[in-house]
Amino acid sequence: DKPITVPDLLAARSAGRRLTMLTAYDAGFARVLDANGVDLLLVGDSLGMVVQGHGSTLPVTVDDMVYHTACVARAIRRALLVADLPFQADATPERALDASTRLLQAGAGMVKLEGAGPKLEVIRFLVEREIPVCAHLGLTPQAVLRMGGFKVQGREAAAAERLREEARQVAEAGVALIVLEGVPAPLAATITAASAVPTIGIGAGADCDGQVLVLHDLLGLDSGHRRPRFVKDFLAEGGSVAGAVQAYVAAVREGSFPGAEHSYK
Ligand code: KIV
Ligand code: NA
Repeated sequence: DKPITVPDLLAARSAGRRLTMLTAYDAGFARVLDANGVDLLLVGDSLGMVVQGHGSTLPVTVDDMVYHTACVARAIRRALLVADLPFQADATPERALDASTRLLQAGAGMVKLEGAGPKLEVIRFLVEREIPVCAHLGLTPQAVLRMGGFKVQGREAAAAERLREEARQVAEAGVALIVLEGVPAPLAATITAASAVPTIGIGAGADCDGQVLVLHDLLGLDSGHRRPRFVKDFLAEGGSVAGAVQAYVAAVREGSFPGAEHSYK
């Protein structure tokens, strides 16, 4: 299979082909994901929680992200590799450019950052300098202190309208992809329908252009935290790590995951 490129994402959406994405933090798991049809691998700053054992993503550094991005990049042939800009690495355009350059030089093909507002200038700055960017809206874990926990966003009419506006703004600023996390399914559906760029959902219902999960959740590992509604243990039905990944990819492609039981109304 040919490597997935940035233009392939829009082509998949136009063709009605759902995109599959999973997090990966090391070469061993990355190889299995890549060999079993996962289109996008995300070196998420969720590694602060599932790998490092912190209670949030805030302690993760650019050095941490570069290390794990390099580990994953060595193992993959087909998947497009996305790496998170960790907390405050996107606070200014210059800082974001430095961190993104390191992540791309470590093997990433795109960087992801949370939010809109002051981040719109950062997105434009990166895109103008040939760095593909993915936005992350809704439940943005780096805003856990303001949100007072990991809570579904966009439930009230005003918050929903704000989220729709943010999705328009990040697309106009030039992102190639939008992750929607912890958003009521009907809102994610209207954002996706109106969006010029593909959306990837997590806890955002089935009507996004693709889905992402944290690898540890897909494998049913106890995180030590309350298990969110959108998580499904695919290892139980898949029987092996490769089988779990195949079951996830098949379920996302055919639209059977996430079901209503994994979504917010
Ligand atoms: O860090 C992460 O794993 C993420 C996904 C949950 C989208 O940002
Ligand atoms: Na993240």
